Amino acid sequence: MPESRVPFVAGNWKMYKTIAETESYVPALVAKLPVGKPVDIGLCVPFTDLAAAVAAVGDSEVRVLAQNMHQAPEGAFTGEIAAPMLLELGVHGVVLGHSERRRDFGETDRALQDKVPAAIAAGLEPVLCVGESEDEREAGETQRKLRHQVQEALLQVDDEQLADVVIAYEPIWAIGTGQVATPDQAQEAIAFIRALVGDRSEEAAARVRVIYGGSVNSENAGEILTQQDVDGALVGGASLDPVAFAEIVAATP
Ligand code: PGA
Repeated sequence: MPESRVPFVAGNWKMYKTIAETESYVPALVAKLPVGKPVDIGLCVPFTDLAAAVAAVGDSEVRVLAQNMHQAPEGAFTGEIAAPMLLELGVHGVVLGHSERRRDFGETDRALQDKVPAAIAAGLEPVLCVGESEDEREAGETQRKLRHQVQEALLQVDDEQLADVVIAYEPIWAIGTGQVATPDQAQEAIAFIRALVGDRSEEAAARVRVIYGGSVNSENAGEILTQQDVDGALVGGASLDPVAFAEIVAATP
């Protein structure tokens, strides 16, 4: 990975941890983080934990992200959360288009087309998730799926802002299954995603961070994170333990 791209490792807690658990997790993580390593570290926590997480990370290098947001700055959208509300809490970024939200909560490429530029405009770092299902991979449709998802979600992002998006390649078959992609599979898909950004802007392709997610743990992280185009990891299950998550951060090249 070229020095121009700082690795990005984020823990995706999903719907785990209360405020009390957040308050004990964060200091345990900070105490175990490698010192002086050039890596951006994120925690993507439930909405109810955001304020506690921001307070707990304090002036450490750990950044706090939300797991979703609505595209409108405010409005009659019961149960939703807007970008300015996240900013007010001191949140750094937001995960958008996670496959669990696409599968279970009707998240669409069309909505993401509005959410990604809305996050950037608000000053939040979007982490856009894309990835193919097992059936799509077996049918040889991985690239078609990735092309569709990446092109759709970035359609309304200016070329100059493409590199402000972090793209997470998360093959659906690898999420929460223990079946991690091979380093070659991760490298190949991520290089393809980088090339898709390159179709819009070569300069953005060189700068954009594309990370891998799906059954990353402290044992397999090193091999994946040292692939040439892999700029970091989005970690679900293994991020719930602060010691294991710190080991993954330490595995960045
Ligand atoms: P996992 O989840 O690491 O538990 O597979 C990754 C994710 O969904 O972001």
